[in-house]
Amino acid sequence: MCGIVATVGHKNAPEFILEGLESLEYRGYDSAGLAILNSDSEIEVVKVVGHVANLKDKTNNQNLTGRIGLGHTRWATHGQVLTKNAHPHQDQNGDFFIVHNGIIENFQSLKDFLMNKGHRFSSDTDSEVIAHLLAYNYKKLKSVKSALIASLQSLRGAYALAVISKREPNKLWGAKLSGPLILGLAKDNSYYLASDSLALASVAQKIIPLEDFELVEITPKGQTIINLKTDQIVSRPTELMKLTKEDSQLGDFEDYMIKEIHHIPQAIGDAIRGRLNIDQNFITLGGLNSVVDQLQYIDRIIIVACGTSYFAGMVGEYLIEDIANMPVEVHLASEFRYRKQPLSRSSMVIFISQSGETADSIGALEVIAGSGMLKLGIVNVVGSTISRLTDAGIYCRAGLEKSVASTKAFMSQVTILTLIALYLSDNYKDYRLLSQQLVNLPSQLSQFLNQHQIKKIANKYYQASNFMFLGRNYNYPVALEGALKLKEISYIHAEALASGELKHGSLALIDKKMPSLVIALSGKTLDKNVSSIAEIKARKGKVIAIVDDAKSPIIDQVDDVIVIPKVIEPLQPLVSAIACHLFAYYMAKALDRPIDRPRNLAKSVTVE
Ligand code: F6R
Repeated sequence: MCGIVATVGHKNAPEFILEGLESLEYRGYDSAGLAILNSDSEIEVVKVVGHVANLKDKTNNQNLTGRIGLGHTRWATHGQVLTKNAHPHQDQNGDFFIVHNGIIENFQSLKDFLMNKGHRFSSDTDSEVIAHLLAYNYKKLKSVKSALIASLQSLRGAYALAVISKREPNKLWGAKLSGPLILGLAKDNSYYLASDSLALASVAQKIIPLEDFELVEITPKGQTIINLKTDQIVSRPTELMKLTKEDSQLGDFEDYMIKEIHHIPQAIGDAIRGRLNIDQNFITLGGLNSVVDQLQYIDRIIIVACGTSYFAGMVGEYLIEDIANMPVEVHLASEFRYRKQPLSRSSMVIFISQSGETADSIGALEVIAGSGMLKLGIVNVVGSTISRLTDAGIYCRAGLEKSVASTKAFMSQVTILTLIALYLSDNYKDYRLLSQQLVNLPSQLSQFLNQHQIKKIANKYYQASNFMFLGRNYNYPVALEGALKLKEISYIHAEALASGELKHGSLALIDKKMPSLVIALSGKTLDKNVSSIAEIKARKGKVIAIVDDAKSPIIDQVDDVIVIPKVIEPLQPLVSAIACHLFAYYMAKALDRPIDRPRNLAKSVTVE
């Protein structure tokens, strides 16, 4: 949520900032801005409403140059999407310029205090208070670093921020308390800050992810990280920059979402590489080695996540209960953190998150921090907050996911949960069959991605205003995921039900204007899904069925059919979900929606 970039030393700071912000637009894209220190030691600010492209146009018209500056792409929390609310924000004398990601919860009391002292505010944001606090503290302390430390002590909430100031013009400061902030170092002695190393891929060779309660002061001669709790200088080894510029480019694809869907076969292959042994029930999860002893005493699993990751967790519930015979509960992180839970040390909590930075999931983790319970992470972004706060975990290895709508990360999460279920099982009867099919899945899915039936079907239904998604057992969470994806990127209202629930109320919605997508795959509940389809058809509802048998008698009963590869039931979500993702994608495409940047949303939700 909100993207920050900043530099000291880049030969063309505006160019770097604009490029960096473009790569961070997945974090927010309702307005953007930058501030550049020019050769007269003045700081020039450009702000626009809308995408970074607008900022680019406006900045290019102003011929800005300089080697020090900062920029921001916003996802509005406090204050409407207006130019005055775009970052950077400054104090009333124009001495301190800040960009901020997060929420300052006590901003109103700080604002009241500062207004009493004569400060005049020019935006409706919580963030502006930071610039004014800096000015207020600087008056007494006469050092920007000291003023920043004093200001941070007054803030309650979450922040990652970057600061430049006319008072000490050749410096840049960064600080963080939740929300990522990465320090980048380049061979040519230029320095960078960014919310995601992605923005640094073309400039920095080394990175240091800052930790909570750390402040960094950067000058053209070097950088110093200070731990604000201990007041000590931090010396942490640098990490090599692994991302390349190509990782963040579209290549031959029209959108990142379709690029990422096409990357699913590789993501599943990468998730199982070196972890799955086909011949014997032997799963290698190196990330769990350090907690093997504790795992022996676990008799209950709680999964905590948000959104699509939560639906992956629901698939995990079916997988672990079915394969490992261990009880599982799945909780929404935003609920779990405020609810009293009878927890015991024989329970383990698994946090699932693509970004590893979701505020609600981090909040839930903090709630059980001192409980002594084992906390595992299933996280995609290496080194992210959740990966660091959990006791152990398994990385998804899905690679960079840029589209706001999560697709390949969901598939990797489900794959990892399948591995965990096998890891925890004693003697799963279908081990060999499942593992053989899992290994074959990437090539089967690659072939499936080459067919075009889903696009044709979407072109038939895209004008619908409402959609029903139905599935049972393993495919109930997939129906939920399919409905979420359709809402998110096409803006068509959709709801999902376990098929058996249809007759308990929602059937009243069905008529010829309300189509349903029913996932009706081979297995225990096939006949039950057939009955649900009959109930819908009897009310003149249109039905698209996802089936796994090209000769299924269902085909004659429904309006349209998507045939997917047939696999053993525990693997069905990995196949049915890709069909739902493609369906949502083509529906949104037919409506000409901004696929990768749906309105009102942002990729990593780092605010509560
Ligand atoms: C939907 C989507 C979101 C995320 C949710 C959790 O397509 O991407 O629902 O799944 O915001 O994000 P992570 O997994 O980063 O914790």
